[in-house]
Amino acid sequence: MESLNVLLLGSGGREAAIAWKLSQSKSMGRFFIAPGNGGTGDFGTNLDIRPTDFEAVWDAVTANGIDLVVVGNEDPLVAGIREALEAKAKDAGRDILIVGPGAAGAALEGSKDFAKHFMQRYGIPTARYQTFTAETVADGDRFLESLTAPYVLKADGLAAGKGVLIIDSLEQAKASLREMLAGQFGKASAKVVIEEFLSGIECSVFVLTDGKGGYVVLPPAKDYKRVGEGDTGLNTGGMGSVCPPPIADDEFMAKVDSRIIRPTLEGLRAEGIDYRGFIFLGLIRCGAENDPYVIEYNVRMGDPETESVMPRITSDLLPVLVEAAKGELTTRTLETDPRTAVAVMAVSGGYPEAYEKGKAITGDLRPEGTIVFHAGTRLRPDGTPETSGGRVLAAVSYGKDIEDASARSYTALGNIHFDGMYFRRDIGKDLL
Ligand code: AMP
Ligand code: GLY
Repeated sequence: MESLNVLLLGSGGREAAIAWKLSQSKSMGRFFIAPGNGGTGDFGTNLDIRPTDFEAVWDAVTANGIDLVVVGNEDPLVAGIREALEAKAKDAGRDILIVGPGAAGAALEGSKDFAKHFMQRYGIPTARYQTFTAETVADGDRFLESLTAPYVLKADGLAAGKGVLIIDSLEQAKASLREMLAGQFGKASAKVVIEEFLSGIECSVFVLTDGKGGYVVLPPAKDYKRVGEGDTGLNTGGMGSVCPPPIADDEFMAKVDSRIIRPTLEGLRAEGIDYRGFIFLGLIRCGAENDPYVIEYNVRMGDPETESVMPRITSDLLPVLVEAAKGELTTRTLETDPRTAVAVMAVSGGYPEAYEKGKAITGDLRPEGTIVFHAGTRLRPDGTPETSGGRVLAAVSYGKDIEDASARSYTALGNIHFDGMYFRRDIGKDLL
């Protein structure tokens, strides 16, 4: 493949890991990350552009001769960046390749109501549910009464990962339904999905597809969403990840393929949705049969799963992204490293509630045998990094098993410092 110029959109640890991987491609020409973070400048050139500012993104595409845009986060996809860039490319009489679905496909993440209807239409296993609005709140009460605790209430729209409430008491669930409908999550909770609670072990499966039925499955991972050890405390963007989790064995992955991935891709085609990009299946493995159910779809890679998934892919990923973006994905499997990878996220003190920014990050950020992916970091004028977000950096290591890999990541984090630095010391322990 000839070399091509790439623009990656996003600024998190996920984009750092994608940038790290793509920068190693034999086919990489010039590489830009917008806006990137304090670490992504190691892999390409950061551009100070917001991914939802489509005019600015297009200007960067033309100014830098970009051939391929890889959209890392969901916001621009739900807002229609594919359509916007394709329209501009058409006007300009040039081609543009994009990894990431159009707005219709992005509704799999942008509207939980759409996603649940979609799963129902195509027989994809998921929790029983109904959707309610302010007009139908009394029906919502009745549906809650038909379920058993705990109760799962989800804002229909994007709520930065915070729109899911799991509530133990029926009275509190009814009160929360009213608060959500009254605008607890702004417009995102004008519709609320109530669903049956599923109990099991969660894992994340990532599929790259070309809109024509071609697809490739990336290594599966498990993330750790709660802030506290032993899965306690508030939900976060993710405190660490393990790739692969032992629960995603061949038998489970075969069920995921036949019951979830294939019907999802067939459903998208039946709806006339030309989906070229990543589909993130948030799954839960339930019951004595270890059956997979879909908790949620996302239309991008997971964060912090990507930080442990990318290091395990040994194939050159860039040509595979190009095939998917062209609608000509012929790659069917990716070569992977046999070792386990464990990512541990270091966060700002107080996160996911209020926290301070601007803390100097010191210590060994390039340790032997561990990759440190920056997330919420930026560079000071003197070129040294400081914190700029809740999730600050991820230490990722390979090992012969989870214990070995996590020990290496913990050793690396022991040599990195910032005021208020916190991380969970039990990433992967539940899988041992
Ligand atoms: P979501 O944003 O849909 O991924 O939900 C956030 C988290 O809530 C998931 O990772 C699960 O841990 C939990 N969750 C969501 N839906 C359910 C459900 N139906 N049953 C049990 N847990 C759920
Ligand atoms: N790790 C979960 C997410 O990226 O949504």
